[in-house]
Amino acid sequence: MSSRKIGTQRAFDEAAADFAALGRHLWEPIGAATVAAAGLGPGNRVLDACCGTGASAIPAARAVGAGGVVDALDLSGPMIGELRRLSADLPQLRAHEADATAWETGGYDAVLSALGIFFFPDMTDGTERLISRVRPGGRAVFTIWRGGSMVTAGRHVGRAMAEVTDSAPPPEREPGLIDRINQAGAYAEWLSARGLSDVDVVVDELRLTMTPEVAWLVIIGSGFRGLLSDLEPGVVEQVRERYLDSLREGGVTELDATTLIGSGTVR
Ligand SMILES: C[S@@+](CC[C@H](N)C(=O)[O-])C[C@H]1O[C@@H](n2cnc3c(N)ncnc32)[C@H](O)[C@@H]1O
Repeated sequence: MSSRKIGTQRAFDEAAADFAALGRHLWEPIGAATVAAAGLGPGNRVLDACCGTGASAIPAARAVGAGGVVDALDLSGPMIGELRRLSADLPQLRAHEADATAWETGGYDAVLSALGIFFFPDMTDGTERLISRVRPGGRAVFTIWRGGSMVTAGRHVGRAMAEVTDSAPPPEREPGLIDRINQAGAYAEWLSARGLSDVDVVVDELRLTMTPEVAWLVIIGSGFRGLLSDLEPGVVEQVRERYLDSLREGGVTELDATTLIGSGTVR
């Protein structure tokens, strides 16, 4: 494991198979909406940064067709392995295990990143680098969570873990840039300040029905998995049971998974 692979990143490596299983409930509808905002056409060259197992890269590859190219990048080798398996029939999709903030190829017609830019160590700098990979007149589309999305699942699993392991609940994350721009107006302003023109932010409402199967996939198939990294399998099973009880006791039947799909034209 490289020294970059700490915390959440290690969780993504471990989550790759469950991440793909959660895909049809969560990542795929968000990925499809992200691709739709890019207005791709046959023959386009596209960069998909932080591609995971291909929720946006695969529909992007279908949109550009055999004459186009999608370079899909993810830091996680297991995610890229899963994507290669899922896209074996799409030779125009080239999956690379790579840091999106250090990618040097340019001249793309569009750059996409679904639920990725807030993982960059410097979100503003990383996003500007992605924009700089696009030709003038091309499109940039970045999807982020709207404020409040996904938090209920994190709160319940954090409490369940604390109870089972008899420890303090995990500390709240320090607020950062993403917490200041996670509403449509502020996000549009931030994107405009990155030099994009014709900025548009679509609020893509999504609610997950929290069946026990989906509720647990939300934990083990996302960055939340990092919370479980150091626990023995028997303890993880106790956390799962306590988490599901806690959701039931709290009357939680749905999870807000709404995103903001921001797009603009590169000058
Ligand atoms: C929440 S997932 C989203 C994956 C995919 N775009 C989707 O919507 O299903 C975030 C992904 O970003 C990747 N990632 C984080 N930082 C990255 C970086 N600097 N370069 C490439 N990938 C990165 C993680 O490995 C993870 O797969």
